Amino acid sequence: MAEKSAAIAEKFTGKAAQVCIMPGCGGVFGLNERVYVCRRCGGPLEIECRPAETTSAGELRKLWESRALSQGPRDRSGVWRYRELLPFDESARCVTLFEGNTPLYDAPRSAQYAGLGNLRLKHQGCNPTGSFKDTGMTVAVTQAAALGARTVVCASTGNTAASLAAYAARAGLQAAILLPRGQITASKLAQSIDYGAAVFELEGNFDDCMRLIQELGDDPSIYVANSINPFRIEGQKTVAFELMAQCGWRVPDQIVVPGGNMGNSSALGKGFEEMLAIGLVDRLPKLNIIQAEGTAPLAKLFAELDLKVAPDASRLPESALAAVEHPRTLATAIKIGAPVSWRKSLRAVLRSRGQIISVSEQEIADAKAMIGRDGVGCEPASATTVAGIRRLVAAGHIRGDESVVGVLTGHVLKDPDYVNQYHHGTLALENTKIAGTFANVPQRVAANKAAVLESLEKRRQ
Ligand code: F0G
Repeated sequence: MAEKSAAIAEKFTGKAAQVCIMPGCGGVFGLNERVYVCRRCGGPLEIECRPAETTSAGELRKLWESRALSQGPRDRSGVWRYRELLPFDESARCVTLFEGNTPLYDAPRSAQYAGLGNLRLKHQGCNPTGSFKDTGMTVAVTQAAALGARTVVCASTGNTAASLAAYAARAGLQAAILLPRGQITASKLAQSIDYGAAVFELEGNFDDCMRLIQELGDDPSIYVANSINPFRIEGQKTVAFELMAQCGWRVPDQIVVPGGNMGNSSALGKGFEEMLAIGLVDRLPKLNIIQAEGTAPLAKLFAELDLKVAPDASRLPESALAAVEHPRTLATAIKIGAPVSWRKSLRAVLRSRGQIISVSEQEIADAKAMIGRDGVGCEPASATTVAGIRRLVAAGHIRGDESVVGVLTGHVLKDPDYVNQYHHGTLALENTKIAGTFANVPQRVAANKAAVLESLEKRRQ
């Protein structure tokens, strides 16, 4: 078995490069070159790690499944378990916190709320630092260490920061994170501080932080860990592999994810396309992205496209995406007006024939409460999925009997203030109040048995 595994691994690794996605550019860079965008045209890069020879998809599947019971550090990681499709050789020293391995839950109340017979939720908030970022960060920090970087940096709405801080600490690297001051939750800030990162709170919004990161990336001591870095995407694409293993390799009809900077949607799209190319799946699920209404530049662009002429995302001019200058949403994780990976994610949505839409603050808040009632819970940005599914069902883009997987990106404890305010009826975005439609208000009761039982009886009625 070991010999056979090595033979399969041999066929799949060591053949990768960083390639520009812009048509006609042809920019190709080695894996050890510290580039984040194409040096020729400034376009986005992605890693191509196609197998040199075709190995049977069945063999690859079996190899991955055989690792589920192994105690080897790479096998225990839900990312490195799929290393045949990652751009590293067997000697790579992985920086891992045993990320991935996240649950796929049935969510009957959320399904009913959204108008579906069934709904499954893949909870990426169950990663080591409580968000999906860990699946990308394990790969980006492994690459940073391999390149001999001293300092890893990111701009963040909070989760990328917490994740980078943790993985940098594991690798013994300095982490520097740029945050929009006063715009990230206390829990996320606390994590970054706890993991020992240098935390810089900047006057400005996330997009300002991101611009600064792109300038800092020129410094030779610095390695950028935002999702503009194609190694991040390589880690995050493995979520699609893990999901398919959990689905018994039966492709769901629809996948629904929140959209902020658009790394996650790009990565899932890439994961599914690679599986299709190898024959691990026989079709692509429709990939749908949901943005918050007050910061939905990609949903706006999507609505303007003429889908009948099969638009090509790679050929749209940079100006096609009109950035939102003053993003507004209580879902702070996705408060992003100029998503850097919009082209890659739009390409994935168009290829899979999915949709990109936006939902209101009230819809996000109510959907979040429903996900809570399923005993699952998530942070506000993640709840755009269920809110979006409800809209897509109502609009006829998703049928009630289709198989649907929503991706929850962050843990409920990432933003407890939001939860408490919603349930107390005090949640508001600027002057707009959010109704506590499904409010569950804590009650004051006297400290005796009769009072508690009486209260419970009332709630049963
Ligand atoms: N959900 C959560 C909980 C997030 O933290 C983010 C992004 C997204 C969704 C959107 O994912 O950017 O890949 O489209 N958070 C980033 C951060 C921007 O800095 O933590 P995306």
